Order: sequence, then structure tokens, then C-alpha cells
Amino acid sequence: MKLLVLSDVHYASDAEKARAGHEARVIGNPLLRNAAHLWRTAIWLRNPCAHNHLLDAIVRQNPDPDLVIANGDFTIDSAFVGVSDSAALESARIAVEQLRGAYGDRFHGTIGDHDLGKMSLFGGAGGPRFASFEHCTTTLGLSPAWSLDFGVYRLLGLTSTLLALPVFRDEIIPAELPAWEVARERQLQFFGEAIGGLAPGRRLILFVHDPTALSFLRDEPAMQARMADVEATVIGHLHTPLILNLARRLAGIPRIQWMGVTARRYTTALREAACWNAFKVTLCPSPSGCQLLKDGGYLRAELDPSGVNPVRFERVRLPWTRA
Ligand SMILES: [Fe+2]
Repeated sequence: MKLLVLSDVHYASDAEKARAGHEARVIGNPLLRNAAHLWRTAIWLRNPCAHNHLLDAIVRQNPDPDLVIANGDFTIDSAFVGVSDSAALESARIAVEQLRGAYGDRFHGTIGDHDLGKMSLFGGAGGPRFASFEHCTTTLGLSPAWSLDFGVYRLLGLTSTLLALPVFRDEIIPAELPAWEVARERQLQFFGEAIGGLAPGRRLILFVHDPTALSFLRDEPAMQARMADVEATVIGHLHTPLILNLARRLAGIPRIQWMGVTARRYTTALREAACWNAFKVTLCPSPSGCQLLKDGGYLRAELDPSGVNPVRFERVRLPWTRA
């Protein structure tokens, strides 16, 4: 079976493109604004709205995969509240419809943190919105948790923000917290049944957008019993191997509580990053990669349903081109 995995498409609708500079506008402190500008222009991504054409390139290069998984973050999230914002919803809708149009029911998507709303890096604006979760599952038709069986393999797609909900607690609107907790309970119940019902000898491939979720999965008793059967866990979120390698080096650092929610969220993930090894993490890069290395692309894999040949993900580089 031919697998195509892409992640962090971050499609930009015209309405999102019209908000250029959205990140700088929500940063009041000029020093922080300059730091964010430097991070954006030199390292991360100078113009996040200039890479829509890379989704076309991926579809063009992969006319006949048997299975396609897009591992979250379909939108720029320029209002920081996910697809509850109509401009962000339009971005995600275009990306999801393009993938469904090309691949039909061979396409499966996971939900990324930006799809749900992500508090801005330095500005403290926005955050997860439950209306975004509802739009993801209804308007966009993305299932919050799914399971697919191919021979010895069970592929599971999960919503990282739900699994790691305790990390996002301070960013969530208090009145919406009960709804998020119910959704998380459902997610864990689905996961427990999907893992618990797995016959001996079956193997797991997990698709989770944000690796912050992995330490929460590790702590689930059902997961602990089947950890040895995890053959691969495909993450997105980090966009480039540069950040994955940095995160591996920083694994185990103490949690920073006093620098705001973003620092607390990142350091919580890093403190637990050592467990990523047990999950056999593979990063699916974003189509553009980072500005510094221009190392974008996607993953391809051959899945042997008999399990004789273990799954191997191959990174396909996309050239850094302008639309
Ligand atoms: Fe992303």
C-alpha cells in the first residue's frame, strides 16, 4: 500500500492573506515585536501566506496513493481562534476540499492546534475555541479520532489538543472547559477501546499533530500495555527536523511557570520529550519547511499489510519556490 502523509499545509485564503502582519499587530511590547520579527524572517517563515501552491505540488506528484493522511493545521489561524474565524475556516475548507477532491475517501485528516485556535506566540491573543472544534468535525468533516485496519496494522488518528488538554487549560475560555473535557473523555474512551480490542501480534501506527500529546498517551494504562506494538508515530507541528532535533536535545528541561502560557506549554512538552523515543516518532515536515533551511516536503511510505516489511517513511523534499 502506498501511503502519502502531509502536514501543516497552513493554507491561506484571500481573507487570511489580507491580514499580513497579523502576528506583529497583537504584540504591544516593541522589544518582543522585534524578537518575533527576527524569528519569523530569519528562521521560521517570512511569509506564511505565500506557500499555497505547495499543496498543488504534493497532489500533482502523488496521483494514486492508496491512503492519504493530512496531519493537522490546515489554516494560517491569523485570528488565533482557529476555524471559528470565517477567514481561517475558508482556508481550511479549500485545503480539505482539494485533498478530498483528489483522493476521495482515501483521505483522512487529523485536527491540529491551529485549526482549533492557538494563542499568539508573544501577544497572548486568542486561544482554543470550542466552536472551532465543532467546525472541524462538522463543516470540515474531520473526525476527532479514527481507526483504520490494514492487515496486521491498526492506524489511529487522534486530536493532540484534546489529549494534551491540561497543558492548554489556561488558554481555554473557562465557560468552554466542560465541553472540552467531555470531548477529551470521548477521545480517551475511543483510544482505550481501539487499543484494548487489538489482538496480540497487531501493530500500531499513530498520527498525532502535536507531540505534546504523547506523554499523556503514555500515561494511559491501555497504551502502556501495547507500547511495544507501536511501529511508528507520525507527528507534524514542528514543521522542520531542525526543531525536532532541538527538542530532542532539550528533552527533560524543567517546566518554566513564570513566563506566560506559551513558555509553560513549550517547556511542559520538552520536559516529557524523552518519551517520544518509545513512540518511534517520525516528523512529517510542513510543505514549506522553515525559512532558514527551506527544507519543506512530505512523507511517503510503503505499508506491507502482512507486516513482514516494517513501515519506512521517506521524506520527499519540495523545492522552495514562489507561487
Ligand atoms: Fe503548523
